[in-house]
Amino acid sequence: MTEVLRVDPDNPDPESIARAAEALRRGELVAFPTETVYGVGVHALDRAAVRRLFEAKQRPSTDPLIVHVASIDAVTPLVDAMPPAARALAERFWPGPLTIVLPKSDRVPDEVTAGLPTVAVRVPSHAVAHGILEAARIPIAAPSANLFSRPSATQASHVLEDLNGRVDLIVDGGSTDVGVESTVIDLSGSIPTLLRPGAIDLDALRTVVPNVARRDASAVDAAMPSPGMLSKHYSPRAPLTMYDGERAAALARMVHDIRALIERHQLITVLVFAEDAADLRRTGARIVELGSEREPADIAARLYAALRECDHTAPDAIVARMLTTPHPLTPAIRDRLRRAAAGRVVALGT
Ligand code: TXA
Ligand code: MG
Repeated sequence: MTEVLRVDPDNPDPESIARAAEALRRGELVAFPTETVYGVGVHALDRAAVRRLFEAKQRPSTDPLIVHVASIDAVTPLVDAMPPAARALAERFWPGPLTIVLPKSDRVPDEVTAGLPTVAVRVPSHAVAHGILEAARIPIAAPSANLFSRPSATQASHVLEDLNGRVDLIVDGGSTDVGVESTVIDLSGSIPTLLRPGAIDLDALRTVVPNVARRDASAVDAAMPSPGMLSKHYSPRAPLTMYDGERAAALARMVHDIRALIERHQLITVLVFAEDAADLRRTGARIVELGSEREPADIAARLYAALRECDHTAPDAIVARMLTTPHPLTPAIRDRLRRAAAGRVVALGT
């Protein structure tokens, strides 16, 4: 049975936080909100509990977890060393939506890192996550609280949808703020490398570490330094196709393709920007609104809820236009949509 505890996200009551912390110390699986998405946490040094977490999420054991701690100091026992670049990034962006990959210490079990010699660490800023970490006084490994390859959870109801009966406790702190997972930067090699785009974008990282490189796109799907890089991830159940490029061209092509699909008796749901809603509704497809394309922060916050809403309409296929608005969150949103579409992107000339 999964129990749900409701808390005030800004000011959670200490009793609920203490219960969640105790459950984690005992090796139980506890879902809680962070500023990015909900995580399902487990005692990071308890190998058996970590294995149960992989089973609960149906996550392949080759996909390493992020270890969450309450402060920069709590990272020290988990890593070989804290290089100056890591310390500078931590001081600038923690607590917050940044994950740093460093060479691991012997204390971190192989189950957590999928056998890699490195560990991913992060200090979340959300009052609930932070409160639990402070009360538990243990490192907590926490992947996003969804079944493997499904859209991440940004509300407690999403966690229940995927993990009811599979986790012990859900701390319900309402909707998360950012809506997409943390930025992941790898500082374990000779070149600092952005592995997963998030709310802290490349420009922000480069104000602290000027030589951060983007991960080589041609390497995607080659080895697997960060399985968040898998090309199918965050996916709704029905196949999603994205249309990328200049608005008028992309919209015209979408309208054309949707009409052709509907003629063949396909049930189509379109994930739309508010600006496109009227044009796309006229095709006869069902509409799920994502928000205004002028507000990428709102799009990020609603992205996973909207993908799940598309599923609830039980369509044969889902269609959406790619975000092109210049904004720090745009690369992260484009990355998640591309993966949700498993690479089905129709590129139109710009
Ligand atoms: O915002 C977030 O990061 C959320 C919240 C709950 O903190 N967590 C999250 O965890 O997104 P998860 O497990 O869904 O994604 C972790 C990502 C994966 O892409 C994984 O491959 C990468 O971090 N990762 C973990 N350890 C790594 C390592 N040692 N080297 C490279 N990548 C690693
Ligand atoms: Mg995930």
